[in-house]
Amino acid sequence: LAKKQFQKIQEKNRMSDQLIPPYNLPDSNRQVILRHRATGIPQAEDFSIEQGHVPAPGDGEMLVRAIYLSVDPAQRGWIVDTNNYSAPVAIGSVMRALAVGVVIRSNHQDFAEGDFLYGWLGWQDYAVIGPEQVLSHIGQPKIALSAYAGVLGLNGLTAYLALSKLGRPKDGETVLVSTSAGAVGSVVGQLAKHWGCRTLGITGSDDKVKQCIDSFGYDAAINYKTAPVAEQLANITEGGVDVYFDNVGGPILDASLRTLNINARVVQCGTASIATWVPLPTGPRNEREILTRRLVWSGFVIFDHADEIPAAREALEKLVKDGHINYLEDIDAGIEHAPGAIASLYAGDNSGKKLIYIGE
Ligand SMILES: NC(=O)c1ccc[n+]([C@@H]2O[C@H](COP(=O)([O-])OP(=O)(O)OC[C@H]3O[C@@H](n4cnc5c(N)ncnc54)[C@H](OP(=O)(O)O)[C@@H]3O)[C@@H](O)[C@H]2O)c1
Repeated sequence: LAKKQFQKIQEKNRMSDQLIPPYNLPDSNRQVILRHRATGIPQAEDFSIEQGHVPAPGDGEMLVRAIYLSVDPAQRGWIVDTNNYSAPVAIGSVMRALAVGVVIRSNHQDFAEGDFLYGWLGWQDYAVIGPEQVLSHIGQPKIALSAYAGVLGLNGLTAYLALSKLGRPKDGETVLVSTSAGAVGSVVGQLAKHWGCRTLGITGSDDKVKQCIDSFGYDAAINYKTAPVAEQLANITEGGVDVYFDNVGGPILDASLRTLNINARVVQCGTASIATWVPLPTGPRNEREILTRRLVWSGFVIFDHADEIPAAREALEKLVKDGHINYLEDIDAGIEHAPGAIASLYAGDNSGKKLIYIGE
């Protein structure tokens, strides 16, 4: 589908209950297969698109048609075989991914045919999954279906849980966020604002700086590509920063640490600016900053917080419906966009949550 045509469908979806066409039992299954284990950022040529078979669900399983495939920076980590928190995707298998889909055959009593869900469907048209692969049982969506893969999905949930549990911002404090216009960062900034904080963003283009301020309510934001970050931060961090929500690591982190107040909290949520961990990158030593500023520096992985996801999703859903959280989406239509999508995310080409619509 051409982007314009798709936008029309999406607009219609937002306005009516006719979210998707009815699906008949398919006879083929397009799958994005991992071909090479990239050490840096995976490129389109590291994947191929193949026709696979449509599996049949066994007892307690269901067959799900994927509609919105999620593209996440974390997928880069799921491919490599070093320095990570989960087993790498095997060469020759379907690329691991979250997606929103609809149940079209169910052998599980808790999931009815026609129910929507968000879970580990992979980059493919059809997946057979059990309930343990479901992150959210949506049922019938209360807001636009795509939102369940972004602002109410991994990204929004990460923002909500990492900020509230590890950042612990207090009313009147200053919160600094990197990738501040992105799917996670934009929600972090808005939550911090909603909880009474001054919010500062770091992002990669003038358009995104504008988005930070106009769409996500940041008090100030900088473009890290136009002038040294330390100099730009000095202009906006008077009074110091109490929470640094870091999604990038590297030189942006080094500069940000030097703006922090005593007892500030650093949430290490991502390391998007590190091109490769082999060999280990070098930079300034930061231990003196940790000591003199008495920092609390915590790493966050959303999958450690499975029990808290339903309550967090409910809280976010209410904030979105009440107009306290805005979100942007960057949606390509067609599975052929999947192989190059991770590289495009790391190039910063996305404006909001990156998704691929394959529900045609
Ligand atoms: N720990 C967890 O459980 C967890 C869960 C979800 C996401 N995350 C992390 O959260 C971060 C944001 O994820 P997202 O899904 O919301 O993606 P996103 O922010 O919507 O998109 C990724 C963004 O990263 C920025 N970026 C890419 N390369 C960069 C570089 N070299 N230096 C600085 N910024 C760079 C780009 O924004 P600019 O144009 O602003 O540069 C790009 O748009 C990622 O680091 C991700 O790994 C962590």
